[in-house]
Amino acid sequence: MTFSRAIKIAPSILAADFANFGAECRAVEDQGADWVHVDVMDGHFVPNITFGPATCAAIRPHIRGVMDVHLMIAPVDPYIDGFAKAGADFITAHMEAGPHIHRTLQAIRASGAKAGLALNPGTGLDGVENLLDMLDLVCVMTVNPGFGGQKFIDMTDKVQRLRAMIGARPIHIEIDGGITPDTAPLMARAGADVLVAGSAVFKGGSVEHPAPYGDNIRAIRAAAEGAVGVAV
Ligand code: DX5
Ligand code: ZN
Repeated sequence: MTFSRAIKIAPSILAADFANFGAECRAVEDQGADWVHVDVMDGHFVPNITFGPATCAAIRPHIRGVMDVHLMIAPVDPYIDGFAKAGADFITAHMEAGPHIHRTLQAIRASGAKAGLALNPGTGLDGVENLLDMLDLVCVMTVNPGFGGQKFIDMTDKVQRLRAMIGARPIHIEIDGGITPDTAPLMARAGADVLVAGSAVFKGGSVEHPAPYGDNIRAIRAAAEGAVGVAV
């Protein structure tokens, strides 16, 4: 996987048909998704429960490209190897999930996965600077995590400051929550390169009728690329 700051659209399967994850992953990739974003929730760190490593392992053969696993769980460390063995390319843990994020990021890299750090809307960039050398991705949450379909919280200033802090380091800036063709340009302009979108990708489509997934992905990508001056 070579590093690139080109815009990547990462559909969140939180908005997919839970009885049909394999086919949903194949459908969004066929329709132009760059990464597949997998939201793991524990009913403790966030007020909702999704699934764990066994489901990730079952999904993995249905994803040709990048499997981006977002852990909204606490504690994180006992489960890292399970998600790595399930085939996660990126494992992202929350700054707020425990007192030892440095140890968690070390463990993610040691597992062979790329390491991501997620920041809730209420969390600042204090402390991120000390972690930069351990990071492959920073996920800026633009909703409070736990549910899809929430209203976008503008984090333009945080993303701009993070982009400046990252400089030339090969660290992705991912935005998660409330991404649509209206909000994607703000985040792309501020410096994001990975845009997670659940409801805005899956709306109007299904495994039997996946063309809307492609229309939705193209609309988000065009809006984002238009904002950063990429020819579309
Ligand atoms: C929120 C999740 C997101 C969510 C995005 O806790 O981490 O990935 O599924 O969904 P939308 O795009 O609908 O806000
Ligand atoms: Zn997510």
